[in-house]
Amino acid sequence: MKFFIDTANLDQIKEAQELGVLDGVTTNPSLMAKEGITGKDNILKHYVDICNIVDGDVSAEVVATEFKEIIKEGEELAELHEQIVVKVPMIKDGVKALKYFSDKGIRTNCTLVFSPGQALLAAKAGATYVSPFLGRLDDISTDGLNLIAEIRLIYDNYGFETQILAASIRHTMHVIDCAKLGADVMTGPLSSIDGLLKHPLTDIGLAKFLEDYKKGNS
Ligand code: E4P
Repeated sequence: MKFFIDTANLDQIKEAQELGVLDGVTTNPSLMAKEGITGKDNILKHYVDICNIVDGDVSAEVVATEFKEIIKEGEELAELHEQIVVKVPMIKDGVKALKYFSDKGIRTNCTLVFSPGQALLAAKAGATYVSPFLGRLDDISTDGLNLIAEIRLIYDNYGFETQILAASIRHTMHVIDCAKLGADVMTGPLSSIDGLLKHPLTDIGLAKFLEDYKKGNS
């Protein structure tokens, strides 16, 4: 399972990278705005800065919604750095763009996916990644994890190579549940990764080991 961090915050990306388990980064226009990154030139530079910190894939989202504009913007993003994956929304022109990019060998992440049908379409169009937003489904009392399971079943039925990138992860249990369901990738906040570390018995056990060591070596 690949671990991506879902942020445009360089300090958090560095921290996750230093842990040694980071496989990539996802961003979106809201995450960029949250870090105060505005204006096309600054945004493009920020993507390159992120690529220079991590070893893996970095999703950069288009803001165009019309086919020709999506293509123009996506090609510009893809040329920025070899690690860039073009993030395209699940709309009709987006699906056409996914097919276009796939034919040209440009890697894509189909975003804003909320149904198995949308995920099937993204795979048919040749998306590299599909991003079902499980947390946002949970937010409206719909089982987000069930969507991950449905997409896994459909993709396995036909051997689709599109990777399921479980997105809108909100906490550590989402990570565990997505791992059980066979999501290929998860993207979440740093806290969702850090949470995997924690167990009180580890802390208690380590304190006891260190205490006993000190007793025996003082
Ligand atoms: C996916 O790539 C999105 O950036 C992200 O996971 C959305 O998460 P949110 O619902 O917490 O905003």
